[in-house]
Amino acid sequence: MSHQLSVIILAAGKGTRMKSDLHKVLHPIAGKPMIHHLVEAVQDLAPDEITLVVGALKEQVMEAVPMVAYAEQKEQLGTGHAVKIATDSFKNQAADVLILYGDVPFIPASIMQDMLDSRKQSGAVASVLGFTPKDAARYGRLKLDAEGGLESIVEYKDASEAERNIPLCNSGMMAVDGTLLPTLLSKLSNDNASGEYYLTDIVEIGRKMGKKISVTHACEEDVMGVNSRSDLAQAEAIFQTKMRTKMMDNGITMIDPNSVYFSADTVIDPDVVIEPNVFIGPQVKIMKGAVIKAFSHLEGAVIGKRAQIGPYARLRPGTKLHEDTKVGNFVETKKAIVGPGSKINHLSYVGDSLLGKKVNVGAGTITCNYDGYNKSVTEMGDGSFIGSNTSLVAPVKVGEGAIVAAGSTITKDVTENSLASERAKQTEISGFATKFRARALAKKEKMKKG
Ligand code: UD1
Ligand code: CA
Repeated sequence: MSHQLSVIILAAGKGTRMKSDLHKVLHPIAGKPMIHHLVEAVQDLAPDEITLVVGALKEQVMEAVPMVAYAEQKEQLGTGHAVKIATDSFKNQAADVLILYGDVPFIPASIMQDMLDSRKQSGAVASVLGFTPKDAARYGRLKLDAEGGLESIVEYKDASEAERNIPLCNSGMMAVDGTLLPTLLSKLSNDNASGEYYLTDIVEIGRKMGKKISVTHACEEDVMGVNSRSDLAQAEAIFQTKMRTKMMDNGITMIDPNSVYFSADTVIDPDVVIEPNVFIGPQVKIMKGAVIKAFSHLEGAVIGKRAQIGPYARLRPGTKLHEDTKVGNFVETKKAIVGPGSKINHLSYVGDSLLGKKVNVGAGTITCNYDGYNKSVTEMGDGSFIGSNTSLVAPVKVGEGAIVAAGSTITKDVTENSLASERAKQTEISGFATKFRARALAKKEKMKKG
């Protein structure tokens, strides 16, 4: 049985210029490892096999990317060598082989398809993805023949002055006839400026065999490679710009979109308003009509319909806010389920908590959920009212409709519809303040006279 399409992704190099203990392809863009962005786009083509070529830090990569097959390149002898190792590991020969780079994360599935189609339609043995960057820098250059076919790829290091003036550059990616790829690879040599087996040399080898090579064109953003932290920041910026546009197209209002950050998996319904300077980490879903006010930080949170969050709210993983809830300024929530219409408006920490409907949590309320060893749960029943500056020492349960007096430290369960108060009785000494001021003033006058 033979395969229709096999995809090879090269990722044997560690990415030295990142200066990181983390493999380059695992660095996140919008909260998701770079390589996942690429593999997900590849999966849109429904290939028979995806083979990732690994070498440096291979355990890290294999653990983080379980959805592909692997080929190990022990020594990095060049892109041609890496592809050969991948094809040697194929279970079945494929009609088409698509070669991609793990550090070029944003290439759209449509461009991958263009490469496959362009090769077949032009009757070529390979189609190389070219682009014309603003700064051609050290990219390999594509040399075309009179008919617009590809004659050769010259690596920058090996290029003459005239060749370096060619604006059309090699992205490195290509679609190749899978039945001929092993033959082409077997003819590579490492006789060049780097002493490496260049994948790019299969172009000249194919030409010598009397085959045609075509070029597919992409724009610079689509083939952007990440080699350094600066590139990573640039990739992040490109991705965020796309997310913002997508969100606005889906009906989300942002006063200052450039100051709002999304994760790749952020899901937001139409008619949500997001004020400036909001950061949305992984696993956040926001439902219709919710308002996220300025300077809020959200991660792992589900926000119900018409909820109002912030300004300055921090929602941490496991937060689930039902409809019409309010979480106000300087409130932190974690693993907190907040029932419909409940409010935590000011200066609170609510963790490992279960709040029913229409609970009112007063300013400065803290759930003491951690004893230094274990986390415990706080429950607040429907309609309960927690007075300001209350400490709820978990595990503890405030019954439905109960009131907790302000300033209490609650360590025992509170019965429904009762008042719980835990604080010293208030006392008064009549006229004390007047006498105190007179005494203090007299002392001050005496000191002045010496
Ligand atoms: C390559 C191209 C160059 C192109 C440029 C675009 C070759 C010979 N040159 O150069 O024409 O303009 O990409 O970015 O192909 N890799 C391995 N094993 C190896 C060598 C590389 O897996 O032995 C992987 C790297 O991890 C990386 C990718 O292949 O993901 C590209 O390798 P890199 O060394 O960056 O290629 P360039 O020299 O930039
Ligand atoms: Ca590179």
